Amino acid sequence: MNSKPHFLLDCDPGIDDAFAIFCALEFAHLDVITTVSGNVSIENTTRNALHILELAGAEVPVHRGADRPLRVEPVTATEIHGNSGLGTYVTPEPDQREQPTGATQAILNYCSSGDAVIVATGPLTNIALALDADPTVADRISHLYWMGGGTTRGNVTAFAEFNAWCDPDAVAVTMASGINLTMFDLDLTNQVLFGASEVTRLREASTTRATFLADALEFYQLSHDASTAGKAMHDPCAVLGFLRPDHFTFRSSNIVCSDTDGEQRGRTLVSFDGDELLHRVAVTADSKEVIDLILMAIIDPGGAQ
Ligand code: BDR
Ligand code: CA
Repeated sequence: MNSKPHFLLDCDPGIDDAFAIFCALEFAHLDVITTVSGNVSIENTTRNALHILELAGAEVPVHRGADRPLRVEPVTATEIHGNSGLGTYVTPEPDQREQPTGATQAILNYCSSGDAVIVATGPLTNIALALDADPTVADRISHLYWMGGGTTRGNVTAFAEFNAWCDPDAVAVTMASGINLTMFDLDLTNQVLFGASEVTRLREASTTRATFLADALEFYQLSHDASTAGKAMHDPCAVLGFLRPDHFTFRSSNIVCSDTDGEQRGRTLVSFDGDELLHRVAVTADSKEVIDLILMAIIDPGGAQ
């Protein structure tokens, strides 16, 4: 019997999202992928998701989601992820087809049983649209793990992390919905850095998927802060925080997100005080172990229990 946990991944691939998909396929049973616009357009995130599944030899239904945020104008991060979203790679037309149902309906369907887990590694637009369509879905998501936010820092502005900056209204709605949620913010993900030695380990594996990801990683690292040992591998942290929680520590909290348009836009405000702490923040990661798990998912697929 396969005892790997099941979940739905909502993502915007995206180079680190690509690593997150490989982790999901290795350490879990990935039931559904929903895509959202963020790092690149919805056209490209959907195409990339389908192509990554092909590279992995996996068949997972992919449902296209929101092509823009709830209210603010769309923004992308092509300077970090490349025009296609996968560095300089030109993603080919996938053989696999996306599902006819959109992401909102796919999320509602997935949550009908009442114990659904969702990992989200992009802007929370699809989650907010599902909550809008049926607010009771908040009670039927057993847990939402989200890469986003920044407790002490931003990466778009001094305050705002990219996924929160992209669709601050969606984050505000999700945080206020009562969903059980764990946030993997920039303070956490900057403990899991991929540098030159990780590129080397991928190149040495010399498989199609490892070479593809080594190329993407080299592009991704062009934007890394030279004062650090590498660039943060953000999105796999949310997947592994769910699947391998022993490698992380967590703190109960309450999180709100600023949906104003000024300098506070997309700022996540985390409070650790109060009687009813609805959320959690992942605060530490065992960096070496988490890095090894990410590499294992690519270099030694099929090895995980
Ligand atoms: C987040 O923004 C995106 O560029 C990454 O894929 C990640 O989800 C980091 O701020
Ligand atoms: Ca992402």
